[in-house]
Amino acid sequence: MASAKHCALRYLLICIPTLALALDNSSQRASSSISPPTRSAYAPRSALSEGYYNPLSNGGSMLTIVDGTFPPGQGEPLNIIISGNSDEAVLKDQETDGGLRNYWLSFDYAGECLGQHAGSEQAANLGDGNGVLNETDEIRYDYNDPQLGTCTETIQGGGHFRYWSQNGPGANSGAVFMASSYELPLTDGHDIVSNGYNLGRDWIIGNITQTNILTFNLTNSSTYSGTTSYGGYTYSTSVKYVSGLLNNTSVGINHNLTVMTSTSNATDGLVAVLEVKITEKPANSAVFLIPFFGWQLPPLLPLLFVTVLPLFSL
Ligand SMILES: *[C@@H]1O[C@H](CO)[C@@H](O)[C@H](O)[C@H]1NC(C)=O
Ligand SMILES: *[C@@H]1O[C@H](CO)[C@@H](O)[C@H](O)[C@H]1NC(C)=O
Ligand SMILES: *[C@@H]1O[C@H](CO)[C@@H](O)[C@H](O)[C@H]1NC(C)=O
Ligand SMILES: *[C@@H]1O[C@H](CO)[C@@H](O)[C@H](O)[C@H]1NC(C)=O
Ligand SMILES: *[C@@H]1O[C@H](CO)[C@@H](O)[C@H](O)[C@H]1NC(C)=O
Ligand SMILES: *[C@@H]1O[C@H](CO)[C@@H](O)[C@H](O)[C@H]1NC(C)=O
Ligand SMILES: *[C@@H]1O[C@H](CO)[C@@H](O)[C@H](O)[C@H]1NC(C)=O
Ligand SMILES: *[C@@H]1O[C@H](CO)[C@@H](O)[C@H](O)[C@H]1NC(C)=O
Ligand SMILES: *[C@@H]1O[C@H](CO)[C@@H](O)[C@H](O)[C@H]1NC(C)=O
Repeated sequence: MASAKHCALRYLLICIPTLALALDNSSQRASSSISPPTRSAYAPRSALSEGYYNPLSNGGSMLTIVDGTFPPGQGEPLNIIISGNSDEAVLKDQETDGGLRNYWLSFDYAGECLGQHAGSEQAANLGDGNGVLNETDEIRYDYNDPQLGTCTETIQGGGHFRYWSQNGPGANSGAVFMASSYELPLTDGHDIVSNGYNLGRDWIIGNITQTNILTFNLTNSSTYSGTTSYGGYTYSTSVKYVSGLLNNTSVGINHNLTVMTSTSNATDGLVAVLEVKITEKPANSAVFLIPFFGWQLPPLLPLLFVTVLPLFSL
């Protein structure tokens, strides 16, 4: 795939037949992996109608693992899933080529303040055969300032999430599981606000769909959709709230006493499942590089001779 991409950038026209072959081969691989029973765990993403595997069905959990909770063993809900049926580019943990980090920027979430990690590490087991893994990263609301806004979030509090990819050999859906919440300012020790797991989830969905989500009215048949853009990429997101992954409960949930309210449990048992498609790309993203490599380099060569050769002739 790397060589196909290389082709796409530099010699788009010449490589088209090779590219088509590469795609053809990968789809063959996908369909042939259904039949051998030993490889059923590696089922192609398209065979999964929901776009993710329930971690619970293979020894994992929809709650994160948090060190030093009181009482011990409490976790935070993985309350948003970016489905493995999303465009493959979106599921890649990168900012380039319309990847995950560019998608997050499209609704004002960015990496942590100046690369510093302010929250404590949490871990999760997505039941994909990778066992318990530390979070991939922690992402914060950037107050509409991708450079420094997450510093504001670190100090003032606000929306944030930790995430993990379900990509282990036992359940390789490619889905991204996010534990989102809304936290208090740093001076309050970054505790979670009242109803902060459900609200943290719904404010993210609210920002993606430009809709005011009524958290208390959500059911397992609520759906939303919207589009967001960043860096020339436009994403179309469909959201479906599902029950059955998390319990509607406060038991076992980190900070449950301060997060639960008289009308809502610390987690309401709903997970927002997102399917994300790229509907627009920067028009010149590939063409842009052709003049750079193809046309700029040759003029540089004579320049090299003019400047370097005289040194040797001395
Ligand atoms: C596709 O697979 C065949 C073998 O199945 C191989 O000979 C060929 O080089 C592959 N093509 C590409 C573009 O990977
Ligand atoms: C996971 O994070 C903890 C800190 O919470 C750290 O001690 C540990 O080394 C990390 N594990 C890995 C595999 O990075
Ligand atoms: C967008 O996110 C911000 C910060 O978390 C939140 O205050 C706001 O209510 C959200 N907007 C919607 C429409 O949910
Ligand atoms: C949301 O729920 C409240 C209380 O159950 C109800 O009064 C209100 O009409 C509902 N709103 C919508 C838009 O469904
Ligand atoms: C939705 O939730 C109800 C209970 O509130 C349950 O009976 C039903 O099976 C759920 N439907 C789905 C599709 O999960
Ligand atoms: C929900 O609660 C039941 C009974 O307490 C438990 O067996 C199950 O593992 C819980 N599910 C989740 C997703 O935590
Ligand atoms: C909270 O969860 C418990 C089960 O743990 C349930 O019995 C109770 O009705 C729930 N309360 C609310 C307000 O959702
Ligand atoms: C909070 O969770 C703990 C277990 O982690 C449980 O013992 C306790 O009953 C929960 N509190 C409420 C109010 O649900
Ligand atoms: C959670 O359980 C309570 C009590 O049974 C119920 O009123 C509420 O609607 C449930 N929440 C969801 C999202 O199903």
